[in-house]
Amino acid sequence: MKLDLRPDDAGAPEALRIEPMADSHISQVMRIENLSFPSTWPQNAFHSEIHDNKLAHYFVGMAEGRVAAYGGLWVILEDSHITTIAVHPEFRGRKYGEFMLLHLLDETIGRGASWITLEVRQGNEVAQNLYRKYGFTVVSTRRGYYSDNNENALVMWAGNLKSRIYANRLRVLREAVAER
Ligand SMILES: CC(C)(COP(=O)(O)OP(=O)(O)OC[C@H]1O[C@@H](n2cnc3c(N)ncnc32)[C@H](O)[C@@H]1OP(=O)(O)O)[C@@H](O)C(=O)NCCC(=O)NCCS
Repeated sequence: MKLDLRPDDAGAPEALRIEPMADSHISQVMRIENLSFPSTWPQNAFHSEIHDNKLAHYFVGMAEGRVAAYGGLWVILEDSHITTIAVHPEFRGRKYGEFMLLHLLDETIGRGASWITLEVRQGNEVAQNLYRKYGFTVVSTRRGYYSDNNENALVMWAGNLKSRIYANRLRVLREAVAER
């Protein structure tokens, strides 16, 4: 069953406001990172991604005056790679993860990439469901990729991002998210 953390009397959740990740966000991003992943990036990894990596594009999603979600990707000509995406546990089930993924896809397509890939833990069905909804399919398995528990990584991929079919898919999904 899907977890929905919206309190009954809270009304519709606040829309996520997406902005580029800045140094001032990193401590909150690290807090979400620690709550979301068994092994985490070091704090300086986010700093160097946003300052030193010209291929990298990182964003935070703000709600209720704080960082509720973040995500990042690399775009290299026609190729792109989602490096991370996470939602603070208190904000999950409100479509914020989906909204962040939509933003990453818009960014990817806007920068001219035609396909996108990512790795996800084999046991992470929540994230896999999200990616499948956006047309990602499993293309390979990296055995023992995650060193903390030797878990396999599934490599997922979505292509033809600039096609009319994919644009229509995104439009329908975006409208559904906006209605929530
Ligand atoms: C994966 C993650 C980003 C999803 O964010 P979220 O805001 O909770 O998810 P959303 O509310 O946007 O839901 C979008 C879709 O995700 C999937 N999903 C979300 N919660 C789910 C649940 N509890 N069970 C199954 N699928 C779920 C569904 O496909 C859902 O679409 P639907 O509502 O139409 O069924 C979030 O769970 C998270 O931060 N997880 C920890 C970090 C992580 O695993 N990141 C991915 C690394 S590859």
